[in-house]
Amino acid sequence: MRILITGGAGQLGRALARRLASSHEVLALGKRDLDVTRPEAGGKVVRLRPDIVIHCAAWTDVDGCARDPEGAYLVNGLGTRNVVLGCQQAGCPMVYISTNEVFDGRSTRPYYEYDTPNPVNPYGRSKLAGEQVVQTMLERFYIVRTAWLFGCDRENFVTKILTRARTARRLDVVVDEVGSPTYVEDLAAAVAKLIETGVYGIYHFVNSGQASRFELALKALELCGRRDVQVRPIRLAEYRRASTPPPYSVLANLAGRAIGIELRPWEEALAEYLRQLCPG
Ligand SMILES: NC(=O)c1ccc[n+]([C@@H]2O[C@H](COP(=O)([O-])OP(=O)(O)OC[C@H]3O[C@@H](n4cnc5c(N)ncnc54)[C@H](OP(=O)(O)O)[C@@H]3O)[C@@H](O)[C@H]2O)c1
Repeated sequence: MRILITGGAGQLGRALARRLASSHEVLALGKRDLDVTRPEAGGKVVRLRPDIVIHCAAWTDVDGCARDPEGAYLVNGLGTRNVVLGCQQAGCPMVYISTNEVFDGRSTRPYYEYDTPNPVNPYGRSKLAGEQVVQTMLERFYIVRTAWLFGCDRENFVTKILTRARTARRLDVVVDEVGSPTYVEDLAAAVAKLIETGVYGIYHFVNSGQASRFELALKALELCGRRDVQVRPIRLAEYRRASTPPPYSVLANLAGRAIGIELRPWEEALAEYLRQLCPG
């Protein structure tokens, strides 16, 4: 297949390009070559004649989005609309990468693909706007919601904890925000399988299990041999930031499991990631 990846310089875009390059023709375009907010973005998609578009481009700075909701909507909502228009005209399906933050986080059990989104912050609202455009304007689409990504191409929660642990002997970490930590490489492998199926619809691709930020930090420090660092649990309310995350946004991968696409437990994925990040 000829696969166009938007946001090709981002962490997921890079992982997908690496994974798909051996069996497909991959066009991974960064913002400089395909700015999705430009009105001509759709025409560019058409000219590239893709068999499928994997739309990874997004404004992913959730606090930035909270400070500038219009900017978030421009990139994540209208930018997605522009790419969708290109897919419509090219007659090709799209994979839209979405987020746990489309849910409000008030559930007491993991969110299924069929649960009703109700975002509580501008990032989540803008990503849901993207989902809605995809669902109403395209016949063939995969919406892949994922969460709490960690990988080698970008700073993430895990690397931030390890960096802080270099200089501080005590870290305060939020205990009442619970989610689905997910290794970018596992997500890329799952998406690579999904696009071969033709089974369109909504998917939750996350490593299995769940963790609070506190538990994830403890596990990462333990796996890197840093049990000496003291981690103190704090409440979300004590951690000042611009965005309000959904407190409980664990995703259940029911639809993927039904077609044989499952991701391993997050602890195993984290251990593999950290073996590369801090060997020995
Ligand atoms: N990271 C997570 O924990 C997480 C969790 C759930 C869902 N997701 C979703 O997963 C997808 C991939 O995220 P990621 O983690 O790979 O984030 P990322 O590393 O920030 O990648 C996103 C890419 O999109 C680019 N971009 C921003 N504005 C653009 C524009 N106007 N036109 C074209 N490209 C633009 C960014 O470029 P610049 O950096 O140059 O702006 C960046 O390279 C996103 O849809 C995100 O919403 C991520």
